[in-house]
Amino acid sequence: MAEPPQSSARSIFGSLVLIAVVIAGAAAAFAYTAGWFSPERLTPNKMVDALTPPTGVPLGHRRNHAKGICFTGVFEANGAGSALSHAQVFTRGQYPVLGRFNLGTADPNARDATVRVRGMGLRISTPDGQEWRSAMIDPPIFPMSTPQAFYELLLASASKDPDAMKTFAAAHPEFAAFGAWAKTAPWTGSYAEDQYNALNSFVFTDDSGAEHSVRWSFLPAAQPVSVSPDDLAKRGPDFLEQEITERVRGGPQRWTTVVTVANPGDPTADPSKAWPEDRRTVEVGTLTVQQIEPERDGPCRDINFDPTVLPSGIRTSDDPFPAARSSVYAKSYDLRTAEAKDYPRTATDAKP
Ligand code: HEM
Repeated sequence: MAEPPQSSARSIFGSLVLIAVVIAGAAAAFAYTAGWFSPERLTPNKMVDALTPPTGVPLGHRRNHAKGICFTGVFEANGAGSALSHAQVFTRGQYPVLGRFNLGTADPNARDATVRVRGMGLRISTPDGQEWRSAMIDPPIFPMSTPQAFYELLLASASKDPDAMKTFAAAHPEFAAFGAWAKTAPWTGSYAEDQYNALNSFVFTDDSGAEHSVRWSFLPAAQPVSVSPDDLAKRGPDFLEQEITERVRGGPQRWTTVVTVANPGDPTADPSKAWPEDRRTVEVGTLTVQQIEPERDGPCRDINFDPTVLPSGIRTSDDPFPAARSSVYAKSYDLRTAEAKDYPRTATDAKP
C-alpha cells in the first residue's frame, strides 16, 4: 500500500538526519584523531613537526634516522629462543633479513662524526609469512621515560631559549643517565663494531602459553676499537657508509642476538631504566650481514621498520613507546613516500 505523502516526507527527513549524524560523527572522529579537540594531546603530526631539523624538512627522507644504508643478510636461529617464544623465527634455521644501518639524526646530510646515536633497522621474514621488525639503537638506555617527555626533549633542544635544555634536564631527572652515556661512551669507526639494543620491552609467549617480558640486543662479533671524536671528525662526511661497504665486501659481518628476560617487578614500561646486570640472558641466534646496498632505490628505502610488526609469539608490552613509534613512523612513511619526486638521491649521480 502507498504511504501517505506526510509520512514519506518524514521518512526522507529522517534519512537526511541519519546521513548528517554519520557525516558529523566521521568529522568528529577525524578531528579527534588529528588532536583538534585537545591541543595538548600528543599526535603523530606534532611529533613529526618537532623532529624537523634546523636544516629544514628532509623531503623524501625518514623524519628521524634520516641518513642510512641498506643491507641484506640472514638470521640463523640456534633453537634456544623456542623455550621463550613459539615464533617460527626462533626455530633452528636460517631466515632472510633486510636491514638498514642508520644515524639518529633528522638531517640526511649530517656528517657522520657529528651524530652520537647509531641504529639498525631489521626485518626478519619466516616461511609462515610472518615478520619480526625491529629498530634498535646503540645506547644502553633511551633518554626519556615516556613519548611525551621525548617530545618535550625535541622542543627543548630546538628552543632558542639558552636555558631550555637546563630547565628540561632539571624537570626530567631520567635524562641524566643518557647524558652520561653520550659524554663518556667510546665512539667506534664502524657500524660493524656497535651493539644495537631494542630498549623497549616486549612479551614472548612460549608453547605452553607462559609469558616472558624481554628486551633484545645484537652484540657485534667485531672487536670495537675506540676512536676519538676528533679523529672521526677528520674522516669524510660519509665515512660510516664507505667503511661498512668495504668491510662487508671483504667478508660478512656478524652479531649475536641476545634476549634478556626480566624478573618480576623490573621496569618494563620505561626504556630509560636499565634492568639489573644479573638478569637471565639467552643467545637465540646470529645475524649475518652479507651485502650492503645503497639506500637510494635500495631494498630498505621503502620499508617502515615499525617495532609493532611482530610475529605470533612476540607482542608489545605495557611499554608505551612501540605504539607511539608505530603511529609516528607511519606518518613519516606516508610523508616520505608521497615526496618521492623530492628525494634527492634518486638522481643517477647521487651517492652512495
Ligand atoms: C616516541 C619516541 C620515538 C619517536 C617519535 C621516533 C621517531 C622516528 C621516526 C619518525 C623514524 C623514521 C621512520 C620511517 O620513516 O620509517 C624513526 C626511525 C628510527 N627509530 Fe625512532 N622514534 C622514537 C623512539 C625510538 C626508540 C625507542 C628507538 C630504539 C630503541 C628508535 C630507533 C629508531 C631507528 C633505529 C630508526 C631507523 C629505522 C630505519 O632505518 O628505518 N626510535 N624514529
